Amino acid sequence: MTSASVLVLNGPNLGRLGSREPDVYGSGTLDDLRSILEADAPDGTTIDLRQTNDEAELISWLYEAVDSGTPVILNPAAFTHYSYALRDAAALVPKAGLALVEVHISNPHAREAFRHTSVISGVATGVIAGFGFDSYRLALTAITRLD
Ligand code: DQA
Repeated sequence: MTSASVLVLNGPNLGRLGSREPDVYGSGTLDDLRSILEADAPDGTTIDLRQTNDEAELISWLYEAVDSGTPVILNPAAFTHYSYALRDAAALVPKAGLALVEVHISNPHAREAFRHTSVISGVATGVIAGFGFDSYRLALTAITRLD
């Protein structure tokens, strides 16, 4: 793997992991997730994990990934289901030759009907959903293998 860094971007309400619907999302926090990914990351690879409730900020981080040549693990959270603005920004990442892996902690297809649509998947390099925090670990492995 040649990338020095992987951006792990998390959308709205994921800052509440640990206390938010633990029956759906588990009891781990984003800090726990960061530690897990740092332990998994190949030597010399930095995990840059961020969370925002702000669509504009998430879009600006995708631009940053493109400009810095950094692959992305993206959990768009509820933006998954309706944000064409996020989709258009996400599309720039694979167009720049960088991996963009869409992840979900839960399996949205096994939940309410509005979660069955992802406007992001069509521009992602790949999608991993339903494995809890392991969705992110599998995404990191995929990025490592692609690079
Ligand atoms: C989620 C699934 C989305 O439907 C939901 O809005 C989230 C989290 C997941 O990781 O399972 O906030 O992306």
